[in-house]
Amino acid sequence: MAAHGAGAHGQHGNPADLDAYIARMEEPERARWQKPDEVVAALQLKPGQVACDIGSGPGYFSLRLARAVGESGHVFAVDVEPRILKALRKRIESSQAKNISPVLALADDPLLPQNACDLILIVDTYHHFPDGAAYLHRLSRSLRPGGKMVNIDFHKRELPVGPPLEHKVSREAFLKDARAAGLKPVGEHEFLPYQYFLVLQP
Ligand SMILES: C[S@@+](CC[C@H](N)C(=O)[O-])C[C@H]1O[C@@H](n2cnc3c(N)ncnc32)[C@H](O)[C@@H]1O
Repeated sequence: MAAHGAGAHGQHGNPADLDAYIARMEEPERARWQKPDEVVAALQLKPGQVACDIGSGPGYFSLRLARAVGESGHVFAVDVEPRILKALRKRIESSQAKNISPVLALADDPLLPQNACDLILIVDTYHHFPDGAAYLHRLSRSLRPGGKMVNIDFHKRELPVGPPLEHKVSREAFLKDARAAGLKPVGEHEFLPYQYFLVLQP
């Protein structure tokens, strides 16, 4: 994911060239800075839990979350772009990860049930929400008691990867929205070179 792509823009803040966008999200090189195994380990998921991946894309994290919660657990992979969910469905089919449900959501509503998630994960997606604080408030209703919300996003500075600077949401701006939505930070990890990693609870 070197950048979101210059030039024409499509819907929901995505680039117009969705095939290139999907390829960038899944490129093996991403693991060098995204450290997906360390991220999933830090989420401390247990078998049988329910994880919700908001702005799942083609499933970079959803498939890994599905392995972490195991066959007795479940993952809701939420995205607004049907073509991206189509790519996710293909990956579900080929990996036989049958504990993932793709959810074609609305831009301002993940369409998740209340009290459904032990973990809500948002990666590189927060800046796509039309009203971040309102969206977080809505999302928090889908957390089970004791559940956690995690936001991982690019620091608002020039970086070799990620969206253009003007699209990035700084850690401080995100925390302001989170507090307005009734969420407080309960943890933070600092092992990612380009992104902040915040853990929140209502
Ligand atoms: C930069 S990608 C990140 C994908 C994935 N989280 C990852 O780390 O590979 C952002 C994703 O958010 C989706 N998206 C955009 N607006 C959204 C919204 N309002 N609600 C849910 N997903 C959204 C896009 O379609 C895209 O798949």
